[in-house]
Amino acid sequence: MTEFHTSTAEGLISNFYNTYDLEEMAQKVMPKGAFGYVASGAGDMFTLRENIRSFEHKLIVPHALKDVEKPDVSTTFDGNQLTSPMIMAPIAAHKLANERGELASAEGVHRYNTIYSISSYSSFDLPDVTKALQGTPEWFQFYYSKDDGINRHIMDRVKEQGIKAIILTADATVSGNRETDARNGFTFPVGMPIVEEYLAQQTGESLKSIYGSAKQKLSTKDVENIASYSGLPVYVKGVESPEDVEPLLAAGASGIWVSNHGGRQLDSGPASFDSLSLISKAVDKRVPIVFDSGIRRGQHVFKALASGADLVAVGRPAIYGLALGGAIGVEQVFNQLTAELEIVMQLAGTQTIADIKNFDLRDNPYDPGVLSNDPARLKLY
Ligand SMILES: Cc1cc2nc3c(=O)[nH]c(=O)nc-3n(C[C@H](O)[C@H](O)[C@H](O)COP(=O)(O)O)c2cc1C
Repeated sequence: MTEFHTSTAEGLISNFYNTYDLEEMAQKVMPKGAFGYVASGAGDMFTLRENIRSFEHKLIVPHALKDVEKPDVSTTFDGNQLTSPMIMAPIAAHKLANERGELASAEGVHRYNTIYSISSYSSFDLPDVTKALQGTPEWFQFYYSKDDGINRHIMDRVKEQGIKAIILTADATVSGNRETDARNGFTFPVGMPIVEEYLAQQTGESLKSIYGSAKQKLSTKDVENIASYSGLPVYVKGVESPEDVEPLLAAGASGIWVSNHGGRQLDSGPASFDSLSLISKAVDKRVPIVFDSGIRRGQHVFKALASGADLVAVGRPAIYGLALGGAIGVEQVFNQLTAELEIVMQLAGTQTIADIKNFDLRDNPYDPGVLSNDPARLKLY
């Protein structure tokens, strides 16, 4: 049985010094099933662990006397001036963490001023979340279904909201093997109005028949279909292989989102950070790259930007902030990572985000698991 209790916390989180602290603190306030769903990963959780550890494969070797003062983390993306390149990753069911769910996380992201990604499985409907964002740029994460009716209906509604881009999630055609959820008997205790709104109008269709347990077939043709029907830029999320880049760009992808879903889907795949520079090389600046999976520190953000990411998405830490402090908690998580990033920038000798992008990281020769950018070595993984 899953308990359905969520935090109503709203206010400053005290006594946290980094995002790792937040995970421990959130565990104390969230119900077991909900916390397990957020924190755990698939299978042996190898990929989940590697996502964080892999940042140690690269070193930030500082440049001395670079005349840096008050580093500037701001960035412009798609015509929007953002506080930093950190954005909100799409995460299902924010109500698991806080009664006000996506309304609170949207307010937090609005306060910080960056891009908000709303999940297909949001616990609040599109217009409510868009309203809470108050004009802050919004992207929609699409779980493309077997049913073209629902696909088109959702895209029509997404366009009505003035949403700026669609994120097509490619790495979740079947749910990963999440044993923690099975052990906890976890089932979603909260609704998913974006997909349910359509189903309510249909007869004989269940969520499971078009999503969930049903295996999903996706192909590059779906990128073309979404781009042509919606007219919106399509970011393909869950790309880990450099060989996939060319077919995706040929199909009309407007951006590549390097991610392994936070180690929740395929266990045994490489850490997302280890794939990033290979994919960046394949993309060769033709389209923007978004990176996620494992961001817990300002130095992780730095290393991702230096390895080719244009934007870096924050996942679990933002949900812990939501559980502990609502909108303000979410903003605090972004502020914490920003403060860490500023220190790293200052000490590394980088004044701007552009300087980070031109910064050469050094392979860590002391890490026994070190992976260089050599594709042959990555294949061993
Ligand atoms: C609780 C939870 C729910 C998620 N739901 C979605 C989702 O609905 N759609 C999606 O594309 N990714 C989803 N993700 C993956 C995130 O977008 C992101 O890839 C992941 O959180 C990155 O890993 P990290 O949080 O460990 O940094 C989810 C992740 C978590 C932790």
